[in-house]
Amino acid sequence: MTRQHIVFLTGAGISAESGLSTFRGKDGLWTKEEFQYFASADCLYYEPEKCLDFYNMRRKKLSEVEPNVAHRLIAELEKEQEVTVITQNVDDLHERAGSTKVIHLHGEMTKVCSSNNRYDPKYIREYPLTTPIKVGDDAGDGSQLRPFIVMFGEYVFGMEVAEEIVKYADIFVVVGTSLMVYPANNLILHAHKEVPKFVIDPGEMPKCDALGYTHFKTTATEGMKQLLEAFKEL
Ligand code: OAD
Repeated sequence: MTRQHIVFLTGAGISAESGLSTFRGKDGLWTKEEFQYFASADCLYYEPEKCLDFYNMRRKKLSEVEPNVAHRLIAELEKEQEVTVITQNVDDLHERAGSTKVIHLHGEMTKVCSSNNRYDPKYIREYPLTTPIKVGDDAGDGSQLRPFIVMFGEYVFGMEVAEEIVKYADIFVVVGTSLMVYPANNLILHAHKEVPKFVIDPGEMPKCDALGYTHFKTTATEGMKQLLEAFKEL
């Protein structure tokens, strides 16, 4: 295959085999109703301790897991191809596997920011995953320090850039996302009609099927191996 720009859209399913829970599966995080509240802008405002504790738990868990074969195979593709990863995940497993162009639509658990100026780069910084964020920790502008994460009820920045990247992809691959969450789920509509499009997910993917995606109905690690075989035919 000649050098192509391959764009991946990834979700929680790619990190499942690393040991991180998905959101909507049988044991998904959102099956616990209070967790959805803990992950909301309302909770951060009215009951910050509950929100921060929920993220402190998830941040600590992230410090205990490693990228899996799927993350690594995507990173390795960079040796021969131009690769951009657009992820809904807030973990850093793509980066730890070696991917260099990763766009995080929903934020990053390895970083913190200001509650008053969420996207002001002055206050966005790395923060050790094992250091809990506490009520009263100052973000630098007098406001509560918080995880650099998009909470329920908050705006997703960067969609226009992501849409442009998908629009000009030579190959588009969706891995491990239920495509239930707007606006990221709409990205599948932006890939060009004529380019090869793939989806790797053990579940049913009716929206992708309707758009002519080739579906590898399996786990991310196995599906990535099948995808690399399919690339040989392109
Ligand atoms: P979901 O939990 O909604 O979907 C996970 C997808 O991964 C499902 O389609 C599963 O079938 C699939 N899956 C499960 N195990 C897998 C495996 N081993 N390999 C590959 N796929 C597997 O997670 P997302 O679609 O990522 O947002 O959720 C999107 C957003 O919803 C998240 O970013 C989060 C959540 O609310 C925020 O917190 C802002």
